Amino acid sequence: MTSELFSAEKYAASRRPLAEASPLPGSCYVSPEWYERELETIFRKEWLCVGRVDQVPNPGDFYTIPLLGQPLIVARDQNGKVNVLSAICRHRGAVVVEGEGRCRQFMCPYHNWTYALDGALINTPGNPPPMDGSKGFDRAQHGLKALPTDFWTGFIFVTFNPSPKPLMESLGTLPAFLANYRLENMQFTHRDVYEVECNWKVWLENAFENYHVPTIHRKHIDPAKPQNWQFEETDGVWEAMYSRRSIVAYTGLPTLTGLTEKEENGLYHIWLKPSLQIIITSSSMKYRQYLPEGPEKLRLIENWTFPGTTVELPQFSETVGAAYYHKYSEIIREDLRISPNVQRGMRSGVYTPGRYSLEEFVVHRIANYVLDRVLGPAQAPVRAARDPAQKARAAG
Ligand code: FES
Ligand SMILES: [Fe+2]
Repeated sequence: MTSELFSAEKYAASRRPLAEASPLPGSCYVSPEWYERELETIFRKEWLCVGRVDQVPNPGDFYTIPLLGQPLIVARDQNGKVNVLSAICRHRGAVVVEGEGRCRQFMCPYHNWTYALDGALINTPGNPPPMDGSKGFDRAQHGLKALPTDFWTGFIFVTFNPSPKPLMESLGTLPAFLANYRLENMQFTHRDVYEVECNWKVWLENAFENYHVPTIHRKHIDPAKPQNWQFEETDGVWEAMYSRRSIVAYTGLPTLTGLTEKEENGLYHIWLKPSLQIIITSSSMKYRQYLPEGPEKLRLIENWTFPGTTVELPQFSETVGAAYYHKYSEIIREDLRISPNVQRGMRSGVYTPGRYSLEEFVVHRIANYVLDRVLGPAQAPVRAARDPAQKARAAG
């Protein structure tokens, strides 16, 4: 079973150029072995976004986030540095803190070991002092583990890879591509967290094709004005699609200055592999964190940010709810219905993959990225075989 699951022949139809290719088989969305291999070859190798620095603006501010089954703490320490720590107590493994808030230190609820905001173990309180008889016990060796952490325009990234590539190298050409938007000026304002009964790829694939919009989101579109998504040529670290018209291109708040005509009059959906989606419009940036919690379970965090100058406007809070958050939550409820539906199909054991439409350009990229990692790179990379039809679309 396992050898068949990881045999290259099984995926030959997904390896073909888009116009000839089929979607991935259902097992890629339900198999625990496949999922474990994705964690090993993708998620434990790469930099993963855990939020933005302005979610912890002041010393002592913290929040917790589960990442690949590991409870993490994101905390700003007294020196202003943002640390990402394992929340697992170094005594007997209790989870030290949950939720979010502001504190001076973290105290484990089990035996009160007390940690500084940078993870250092500062006290093991008790009377009589409980650790006095423990030979050679060294507090300095028992701090909460800090993960390799790095930052880009306010985004916080961590990695489980003990020898990672520098973050900036891993971002490829994306920082230059987004430079005009000055993401460092964006301020976090709102978050929605969803627990979805589907594989992480089911949601990601849905997020990067417009084919389902006239059906699933028909309430929100004008059939007389079809969307016209174009796909960007990228370096392969990220993928992007662009449209001048979209159900998520909102107005009502000021647009950024310094954008190109294209940036000002449309929006991008960007996938920074493997687990960050950035939806950037001329007035806002939404970022979406994909946190897989099992082969058929996804925690999805939707975060809104706006330029600091917009957030300060007197009309900001009354405008943003109706025009941005509420409108979008209606759309996402529709995706929340279809994604577990698709997952049931994947789980059924009787799904035979169909064919992609050319709208599913990024979906095909997602499949081939996963296959490259899980099985090893294809003999003939799909990037070299861009379909002529896609070239026309990207140009058009
Ligand atoms: S497990 Fe945390 S103090 Fe004992
Ligand atoms: Fe959708």
